[in-house]
Amino acid sequence: MEFHQIARSGQIPEGVVRRFFAGEVEIALSRSEGEVYAMSNYCTHLDCLLSSGRVTDEGLLCSCHGSVFDYETGEPLHPPATRPIAVFPVRETDGYVFVGIDEELAEAAKHRRASGSRRLSPPTGGA
Ligand code: FES
Repeated sequence: MEFHQIARSGQIPEGVVRRFFAGEVEIALSRSEGEVYAMSNYCTHLDCLLSSGRVTDEGLLCSCHGSVFDYETGEPLHPPATRPIAVFPVRETDGYVFVGIDEELAEAAKHRRASGSRRLSPPTGGA
């Protein structure tokens, strides 16, 4: 797994969530009780951006419908989301934040439309 420098520590003050990119991977970086956490930026419910959400004592809250995801495991703690969100390992060193990404995590972090797991239009064709 390769670690990518994606932010300066000062860009993620306590209680804040912001969007960053590592190549094409979109990441919600948040800080709670001093620790930085990295998750996919796409809520597993309906793809809302978690970088528009809020840091809570329990986890990262999606502002669209109120799902909360555990910072460390990505498990949904409150519905409507039922599937965990991709969580990336984080290292914070010398004032910079590094996020570990491999192919599997990068794939899991895509929003559902990009991964093709949701049908966007009705099937066509047939006789
Ligand atoms: S899109 Fe996040 S809770 Fe619905």
